[in-house]
Amino acid sequence: MFEELEKVRQECENCQKCPLGQTRTKSVFSSGIPNSKLMLIGEAPGYNEDMTGESFVGRAGQLLDKIFESVGLSRKTNVYICNTIKCRPPNNRDPLPEEKQACRAYLDKQLEILKPRIILLCGKVALTSFIDTPLGITKLRGQWFDGPYGAKMMPIFHPAYLLRNQSKEKGSPKWLMWQDIQEVKRLYDSLDG
Ligand code: URA
Repeated sequence: MFEELEKVRQECENCQKCPLGQTRTKSVFSSGIPNSKLMLIGEAPGYNEDMTGESFVGRAGQLLDKIFESVGLSRKTNVYICNTIKCRPPNNRDPLPEEKQACRAYLDKQLEILKPRIILLCGKVALTSFIDTPLGITKLRGQWFDGPYGAKMMPIFHPAYLLRNQSKEKGSPKWLMWQDIQEVKRLYDSLDG
């Protein structure tokens, strides 16, 4: 499993399938533990990720770690983290459709090799990459959908959105995230392996 994944990672490292190959510092394949039951799919690398080659290492990533740790999950032990596209778009703009399309085979390979049981679609770019819907993340977060290879998928807010919405009041985005991550942990604990 790991040799196959390593081959895909190396392909990504040298990829020139779209113009982001010319502007990136490093491609960002993943972080965390490959044989996890849980995979989180974010949007795209930002500045810190582009510099280090690791996903979710900036402020949003630190908040994500806290959210996972609040229910006893961690990329150090039981979470795998990747993105819909592997190279940073200039000025952190949303990935273009053609960039997502060019990069999709890498994400599909990660899914095919790892076959996670739970997939968290983190933010609207990940949501729309897997679920064809006019509804936004606010409407769909917290709900389970059927995903690839029998996985259960849940859209959740992106931590960058939570950083812009600091309230923890009942019904606020942070409060909703807390409900969602507890539901994720319930399903996680009910799965064997
Ligand atoms: N935001 C993302 O969606 N992914 C990262 O890796 C970092 C920030």
